[in-house]
Amino acid sequence: LRDKYLGLIADAADESALEDLRVQAIGKKGEVSLAMRELGKMTPEERKEAGPRLNALKDEITSAIAAKKAGLEDAALDERLRAEWLDVTLPGRTRRMGTIHPISQVWEEVTTIFADMGFSVAEGPQIETDWYNFDALNIPGHHPARAEMDTFYMHRKDGDNRPPHVLRTHTSPVQIRHMEAHGAPCRIIAPGRVYRADYDQTHTPMFHQVEGLAIDKDISMANLKWVLEEFFTAYFGTTVKTRFRASHFPFTEPSAEVDIQCSFEGGTVKVGEGDDWLEVLGSGMVHPKVLAAASVDPDQWQGFAFGMGIDRIAMLKYGIPDLRAFFDADLRWLRHYGFGP
Ligand code: PHE
Repeated sequence: LRDKYLGLIADAADESALEDLRVQAIGKKGEVSLAMRELGKMTPEERKEAGPRLNALKDEITSAIAAKKAGLEDAALDERLRAEWLDVTLPGRTRRMGTIHPISQVWEEVTTIFADMGFSVAEGPQIETDWYNFDALNIPGHHPARAEMDTFYMHRKDGDNRPPHVLRTHTSPVQIRHMEAHGAPCRIIAPGRVYRADYDQTHTPMFHQVEGLAIDKDISMANLKWVLEEFFTAYFGTTVKTRFRASHFPFTEPSAEVDIQCSFEGGTVKVGEGDDWLEVLGSGMVHPKVLAAASVDPDQWQGFAFGMGIDRIAMLKYGIPDLRAFFDADLRWLRHYGFGP
């Protein structure tokens, strides 16, 4: 009996096999228990000899089972540790995080730089009336500038004779809206989306401009030049010279197109060095008719305005040759320029 059970216990594969053996050997109807029950039928001499032997066997089996059980538990734990082993020195699994779109980054940066110079942000609707987009800016109905702007018109139903709305072609209408609402003096920028029916490497039907407007008693072109040079130097992180070229806009007089200093060596544009120039914005002194259209007295107030392409200066900063790529939502492109997830 002893050899049989000690052998079986040693070979038991798992805890439930051990439990079966325990019942078989020392359970109520187990072989050892039954043998113990036989003691009553024995003579006192026989019992004296067999009793302790059976008791010892029972103890031996009990502790053999306990030892085997502990062994099985250890083995199971070892196995689990092996399976679930974790090397905490391995680099973690990284997750790809989305980033702010480059145009939005530039938009925010532009806003911050002008805010540091005391400009606050103004907004206006992207769907504008003829009046705010053109007439109030001294662009009457017959003016060639209307045709040049490739305007998107929102068509009305037959019989609706109200003047058409347009998708604003520039951020300049925000000048009018702001002066109308807040009067002078003022110092604002108005970043936003604008629309023109145009599509090639440097034009998309939707693009972004930032308008600047500063009105006070004695604001001059000199203030404009300082503000712009300060802005470009902060934005490009290097001293940037500007060149003002006489130009014409219906809403400014005098008007200037502004170029920034750059070099074009090896097909890449570098801002702030070399002796080439790149046009980046239109500007001028706000036309008296424009002030008057916004109910600001041109005999008391004067100031400058400018309109700059946000996408244009983003392309320059990041060396991006094709504007359209900004709006393709191609993750490979975004990653290539360090923006993508
Ligand atoms: N609104 C002009 C444009 O979109 C830019 C501009 C703004 C020029 C303000 C002068 C003053 O082309």
